[in-house]
Amino acid sequence: MKYRKFGKSDMNVSSICLGTWVFGGDFWGGADDKESIAVVREAVRKGVNFIDTAPAYGCGHSEEVIGEALKGIKEKVFIATKCGLEIKGKLVRSDLSPGFVRSDVEGSLKRLGRDTIDLIQCHWPDPKTPLKDTLGELEKLVLEGKVRYIGVSNFGKGLLSEALGVLPVVSDQMQYSLFNRDIEKDILNFSVDKGIAIMAYGPLGGGVLTGKYDKRPSFPKTDARSIFYTYYKEPFWSKSRELVGCLDRIAAARNVTSAEVAINWVLSHEAVTSCIVGCRNLKQLEVNAASTEWKLTQEELEEIESEYRRIFG
Ligand SMILES: NC(=O)c1ccc[n+]([C@@H]2O[C@H](COP(=O)([O-])OP(=O)(O)OC[C@H]3O[C@@H](n4cnc5c(N)ncnc54)[C@H](OP(=O)(O)O)[C@@H]3O)[C@@H](O)[C@H]2O)c1
Repeated sequence: MKYRKFGKSDMNVSSICLGTWVFGGDFWGGADDKESIAVVREAVRKGVNFIDTAPAYGCGHSEEVIGEALKGIKEKVFIATKCGLEIKGKLVRSDLSPGFVRSDVEGSLKRLGRDTIDLIQCHWPDPKTPLKDTLGELEKLVLEGKVRYIGVSNFGKGLLSEALGVLPVVSDQMQYSLFNRDIEKDILNFSVDKGIAIMAYGPLGGGVLTGKYDKRPSFPKTDARSIFYTYYKEPFWSKSRELVGCLDRIAAARNVTSAEVAINWVLSHEAVTSCIVGCRNLKQLEVNAASTEWKLTQEELEEIESEYRRIFG
């Protein structure tokens, strides 16, 4: 495993951060808690010391699973969780009001079985709450010893700058993969300049970039693979086949998997501190964790870039 300094914090985190949305069990076609616990323990054994979760994942279930899995584990594991996203049935609501973020943090501490959260992240922007009110409350939680560092998630450059004007937030968690390169426009270079850690989520495009699908799969309407990762839908799906073909070729020549190539590509940008990868089972973890053991060459990066430009323009 490789480690990177996490922005301006004192944390040295594994470049693979274990993503645990799937552990919540509600958005990914169910999850097996025993397998999820085994994944956390094996990830730690492999040197992964960074886990990302959220109260919104299975209404706290992902955090409960992590709390259970880490019982008795002696290695230091940094926990990043989030606050301010309420999910009730079909209703999804961003609420970064001071009362809501405090109750999220206190709930997370209980579910995780910890005295302190290493990194709390505002999950999604909330246009109704002034940012200074949210960050002011999170700062109080730092002073109370309940939180060590404050970060944001899904904050574009404007909001990130606004947050930095209030408090020294250390990180921004954003979607970044070969299917979604929006943050290349302004966030990545800005983060390097400001010393902000970028946590890249969805590096496998929710699974499509692993190359495991020969035919377009179909998922229930409430599944994240239907509503969040739109790469499973046309017209994107047909184009994505060609790019996956390029990853497959590079993977075959190296005797690795396409998932590893996709993760390796995300980690090739210096601004990316951690690539958050979802792993449903031990087999996926084995593959995904292996991606830090080698690096794409300049020629391979150029091949991917030229295929990308040819396909997506
Ligand atoms: N801040 C935010 O708003 C936000 C949003 C989304 C995600 N996140 C975080 O980022 C993490 C990672 O993103 P993600 O999990 O959504 O997407 P992802 O990492 O792109 O995809 C993960 C999914 O791909 C499949 N997979 C993983 N490794 C595989 C392998 N080696 N071979 C075949 N299939 C494999 C698994 O799903 P199947 O087995 O079902 O195919 C797995 O759940 C999340 O878990 C969460 O912690 C944050």
